Amino acid sequence: MLTVSDLSVNYGPVHALSHVSIEVPRGEVTAVIGANGAGKSTLMRTLAGLAKAAGGSASLDGNPILGRKSEDLVRMGIALVPEGRSTIPELTVEENLRLGGMWRSRADRATSVGEVFDLFPVLGQRRSMGAATLSGGERQQLAIGRALMCDPRCLLLDEPSLGLAPIIVTQILTLVKRLATDSNLAVLLVEQNAVTALRVATQGVVLNLGQVVMAGPAAEIASHDELRHAYLGY
Ligand SMILES: Nc1ncnc2c1ncn2[C@@H]1O[C@H](COP(=O)(O)OP(=O)(O)OP(=O)(O)O)[C@@H](O)[C@H]1O
Ligand SMILES: [Mg+2]
Repeated sequence: MLTVSDLSVNYGPVHALSHVSIEVPRGEVTAVIGANGAGKSTLMRTLAGLAKAAGGSASLDGNPILGRKSEDLVRMGIALVPEGRSTIPELTVEENLRLGGMWRSRADRATSVGEVFDLFPVLGQRRSMGAATLSGGERQQLAIGRALMCDPRCLLLDEPSLGLAPIIVTQILTLVKRLATDSNLAVLLVEQNAVTALRVATQGVVLNLGQVVMAGPAAEIASHDELRHAYLGY
């Protein structure tokens, strides 16, 4: 379980997150939705050790995570797939994956590359090709595959659907849900695409201007008309 309690983050005078509390159980997807500037990426970056909390606490399976270096958090099992697909275009698919598993032993790494290719067959077919030659959907698969190479317990996905065709979005999010269930991962999924995110999530959290305006079962949020009109714009 990833637990976030009363988390606040400021950028100078900007209160990006104010007293945010979220619980992300293992084995399921928890969606964080909200408009531009709601604080979604700030939440993810703070949990991955890339932004500094001004207050509050967070823990993974009972171990405190705030204030630790990002590489220590990776070792504790927290993997971030940042906004904008963080693959290295000059490297091949396989090199990108191996980079993701850097800190693991050689034998471990070889197994994991195979596991990622089992999950994403298209990456196996393109293992020797440059990441720059991949389509948007394939590159997103590579970014997720690279995060999986760290053998995470908690996966933080920041807008994996951005810029992808609807059918690819559905494929990727369905796979994310399966990953959560099959590998018992605590998945925190940030999306502006609320409809699709709430379809694969068990719980949902709506952020607006750095504050949680609603949290509860994903189906309840999806069917809450006033909330959708007020914060989600559809
Ligand atoms: N490095 C930064 N310095 C100053 N302000 C920042 C910084 N990063 C984000 N902010 C501000 O913090 C707030 C939250 O931004 P954040 O990127 O977390 O939102 P978001 O929900 O991810 O938005 P989007 O949907 O556009 O990705 C915004 O007001 C943003 O302008
Ligand atoms: Mg963002």
